[in-house]
Amino acid sequence: MTSSGCAAEAGPNRPDGTPGLRSRSGADGSFSLWSEHFGEGFHGPIGALSEARAKFVQPAELERFSPGQRLVVVDVCFGLGTNSAALLEAASGRGLTLQIWGLELDPQPLRQALASEPFRRQWQPGTVALFRSLLEHGGWSQGDIRSSNQDSTARLLWGDARSRLGDLLERQQLAGRCDLVLLDAFSPRRCPELWSLEFLSALARLLRPDGRLLTYCCAAAVRRSLQLAGLQLASIPPPPQQGAADPSPRIAPWSYGTAASPSLLPIGTEPDSPLRPLTAMEIEHLGTRAAEPYRDPGGQAVAAAILAARRRAQAASGAGPTSAWRRRWGLEGHTRASAKPPRQPT
Ligand SMILES: C[S@@+](CC[C@H](N)C(=O)[O-])C[C@H]1O[C@@H](n2cnc3c(N)ncnc32)[C@H](O)[C@@H]1O
Repeated sequence: MTSSGCAAEAGPNRPDGTPGLRSRSGADGSFSLWSEHFGEGFHGPIGALSEARAKFVQPAELERFSPGQRLVVVDVCFGLGTNSAALLEAASGRGLTLQIWGLELDPQPLRQALASEPFRRQWQPGTVALFRSLLEHGGWSQGDIRSSNQDSTARLLWGDARSRLGDLLERQQLAGRCDLVLLDAFSPRRCPELWSLEFLSALARLLRPDGRLLTYCCAAAVRRSLQLAGLQLASIPPPPQQGAADPSPRIAPWSYGTAASPSLLPIGTEPDSPLRPLTAMEIEHLGTRAAEPYRDPGGQAVAAAILAARRRAQAASGAGPTSAWRRRWGLEGHTRASAKPPRQPT
């Protein structure tokens, strides 16, 4: 589908005056939203479901686990739950169960998605029931909610992910116990508070030694911060048929995202490998000013302050200019990796 083919329903401001959410769908026809407040789509033009599978489910490599195993998953920026639901259904097909912890600021995306018949049709009945329970009993005071068709559980912690992450680490004692952390915040330029060195380091503490943090983001600042948090990196390759499936082939052509783990990741160089090593170009990117981390030492800074502090740090940095790196690798015509190109307005 082309950008002009995006279906979009008008989403006026909410009754309290805050900017609303617009419904839309991507190339695969699956349901997604556009945030007026963040000025960004929830998913890229390939579609919510395709993105969840390519950037989160496949690089999770569920085949690593034996049937009957129970995986602990933290879904950062649960949104309308596409990533959790796609993972849940894939895990269920492999005889795995999940204990999902979702972090999300706003119940409206899930509410709006559940009101949409095409969204509900995307999922198995048990998954829709789980979503409904999450919304109806939503809030941190509710107990684990059992989905109707399996032993997986899910619990949403509403609020700023920066503070709710502390609950996971301390109250729920999830440090070192998570198999997967799915990080799907809006782009670093729109939502830098969820890509800071401090926040990423706290997410890294959740991981088991062989756990994986997965994100669509391939920004140098994010990758560098994950390294500084002690994690090993791998790149999530675009699918071989990307040119046909993705209406934005000029965008971030080298990677679909990043996997990070306390342990070395199993990487392959075949076209269908779920994870591949960073290329020379990607490694060189980490030595440029683009790799200057976003900083939020107090965990409460607003986006504008984080961005301004980073600009000052970049100006004072001895790192090479990113423009020279872009020229060297012939990337001038491409959107910056630190932007969120697949989710730009369509
Ligand atoms: C790109 S969307 C997530 C899409 C989602 N993973 C899905 O599959 O539907 C980003 C989400 O981050 C949430 N968000 C923004 N700032 C947040 C914050 N500080 N803490 C927690 N969630 C936040 C937004 O409400 C939005 O639902």
